[in-house]
Amino acid sequence: MSAVKQDDKRKVTVHRLKEMKDRGEKITMLTSYDYTMASIVDGAGIDAILVGDSASNVMCGNQTTLPISLDQMIYHGKAVAHATKRALVVVDMPFGYCVGNPLQSLDAAVRIMKETGADALKIEGGEELAPDIKKIIDAGIPVIGHLGLMPQSINKYGTYTVRAQENAEAEKLKRDALLLQEIGCSAIVLEKIPAALATEVTQSLRIPTIGIGAGSGTDGQVLVIHDMLGMNQGFSPRFLRRYANLHAVMTEAITQYITDVKEVTFPNKEEEY
Ligand code: KIV
Repeated sequence: MSAVKQDDKRKVTVHRLKEMKDRGEKITMLTSYDYTMASIVDGAGIDAILVGDSASNVMCGNQTTLPISLDQMIYHGKAVAHATKRALVVVDMPFGYCVGNPLQSLDAAVRIMKETGADALKIEGGEELAPDIKKIIDAGIPVIGHLGLMPQSINKYGTYTVRAQENAEAEKLKRDALLLQEIGCSAIVLEKIPAALATEVTQSLRIPTIGIGAGSGTDGQVLVIHDMLGMNQGFSPRFLRRYANLHAVMTEAITQYITDVKEVTFPNKEEEY
């Protein structure tokens, strides 16, 4: 595998994700939902930023991704695209806008692309949504598919457990992945499926796969930034590696500020005009 090119400042496109797969270089993706976070993530050299509909949980405190609206996704997407110089910016199609009516799906896709300045969309779903996804791709919009655990279908599943453990669901996932490639998807996110299945799917495709809870055999990895930075304490799935404990760091800073203000040690003479 080739080394990471830290000095490569070229804008990442969906074509470059494919080139990375072809040369065996892993693709890195993290979520962001606002300007400041996206500036940091992009500046650190990430390949792709996902404006996920996980914003519904992380930014708005909802239990699921279902409530977030198209306007809210556009608000977050615009802030992230504004901040990002190098990474590929991918915005999630929110629940309810791409559900079996290709022209309506295209309208939502065009609004996201026009109003955010993003580079691509991500859409949950396989065969059932193929006509919608194809319509969007045919209009010139790169689409990243999303298979396995699809959080927008939580009410159908009833649980966030690992998907495609049974043969029938695994076979459907493999067919869906090939179909998404055939209709022109640029990559596929594989969420919370057995590692062996994710590896098999990855090896069967020309387009890259990006995994979350899908083992190391995918072409890339994605995590929710607030989870990997340890900002949110209540979420500890097995696949999550925490790279920092920002909850503790932020709590300590804020309690110190409270103490300083109460004790009138902030501001001091050097901090006043
Ligand atoms: O919305 C999101 O953050 C996602 C990732 C978990 C892949 O879809």
